[in-house]
Amino acid sequence: AEADGTKRFRLEMRTGRTELLPGEKTDTWGINGSHLGPTLRAKRGDKVAVDVTNALPETTTLHWHGMHLPPEMDGGPHQTVQPGKTWSPSWEIDQPASTLWYHPHLDGRTEKHVYRGLAGMWLLDDEESERLTLPQRYGVDDIPLILQDKRMNDDGELQGPPILTGKVLAGGPVGLVGDKIFVNGTYQPMFAATTTKVRMRVLNGSNGRTYHLGFADGRRFDLIGVDNGLLEKPAPRTRLPVSPGERVEIVVDVKPEDSVVLRSFPFDLGTPFPGNRIAGGDDTLDLLRIAAGDRLEPSPAVPARLAGSSLPDPPAGARTRTMHLAGQSYINNKTMNMSRVDEVLTAGTTEIWNVTTDEMPHSLHLHGTAITVMDVDGRPPQPWDSGPKDTVFLRPGGRTRIAVHAPKHASERFPYMFHCHVLFHEDRGMMGQFLAV
Ligand code: C2O
Ligand code: CU
Ligand code: CU
Repeated sequence: AEADGTKRFRLEMRTGRTELLPGEKTDTWGINGSHLGPTLRAKRGDKVAVDVTNALPETTTLHWHGMHLPPEMDGGPHQTVQPGKTWSPSWEIDQPASTLWYHPHLDGRTEKHVYRGLAGMWLLDDEESERLTLPQRYGVDDIPLILQDKRMNDDGELQGPPILTGKVLAGGPVGLVGDKIFVNGTYQPMFAATTTKVRMRVLNGSNGRTYHLGFADGRRFDLIGVDNGLLEKPAPRTRLPVSPGERVEIVVDVKPEDSVVLRSFPFDLGTPFPGNRIAGGDDTLDLLRIAAGDRLEPSPAVPARLAGSSLPDPPAGARTRTMHLAGQSYINNKTMNMSRVDEVLTAGTTEIWNVTTDEMPHSLHLHGTAITVMDVDGRPPQPWDSGPKDTVFLRPGGRTRIAVHAPKHASERFPYMFHCHVLFHEDRGMMGQFLAV
């Protein structure tokens, strides 16, 4: 912390070589290291500042996904950082406890930069969350899990994504899908549990793959949080989908001498045959082995009440907008244009977006704010679509109504982004810009 109480973080994006697979080095990019970035942590009310230095050979940006902040601090495609330069945004943390993340957002190059290894988590706390009897000792009983899939050549170098090589790989509905899964950059990881409950903050930081979480032995777990904050109460689950850009927080029971695998099970993405197979929907993948010793420290029960509901329903007569996501590039028949504003919202108000899709699965994300899923094909949202979201999985041919809580930081000049978080779609133009005025 600095003299005025500001918490300052220093991040440097650089190139490096990383042993992703045992005995093989891979060209990667990282933040303060050769691959991925440090977990940042701040609390509601904190003033934060970040020095983002670009030591890469090309221009990039760094975006704070899920953060409620003024648009010029957001790190979207307009806040570019040239090689050798430092960008220093600052803002005040003013939102509930949540599991956020950060990654580059260069126009047309996001897939490449994230795939190379530029991503990290940003955890937010608040007074209420600190009082909850949830596991919250970082790395002990509260662990971050960044899920990413990659595809490697025989020489260990990364294959694709298409933009990286200039070659169009056999692109399925969601672009490149890797056959090797890395968790926090580690292949085939193991976690040694020391407590009877373990909290996992799972980020799908993959380009296009959707995971369908569950445990190999079918054990139940509690879903306690989604993208932009904790749920009002825990939801018991055995399976849980998480699409690109989304986060879920779960708590699972561990017994002495346990050995259980967190796995991704097949998931019907709803694309016409053979789209599901090409997009990875038929895959079964082991993500993480949890192993426990013979003595575990007892953890308190998960509280029955986690967070108060603070997001307002749309008022009667709320402004309604229609968004149609089509193919791999279009929102309302338009592709991304950096110098066009697509929507103008009134800062601090709540409105309704009616979102429809055609034959592809998408993952719709809005910057700078939280959103709430009102209904999906006329039915109430599933537990993983409940609570404060910022990224929503959209099934092909579906109709999803979301309440959009427009950012309160008004600006006539700087837009926020809304886009598909399947990075292949995002880079192909499935993105628009909105102002909050
Ligand atoms: Cu996670 Cu606009 O991005
Ligand atoms: Cu974002
Ligand atoms: Cu998409």
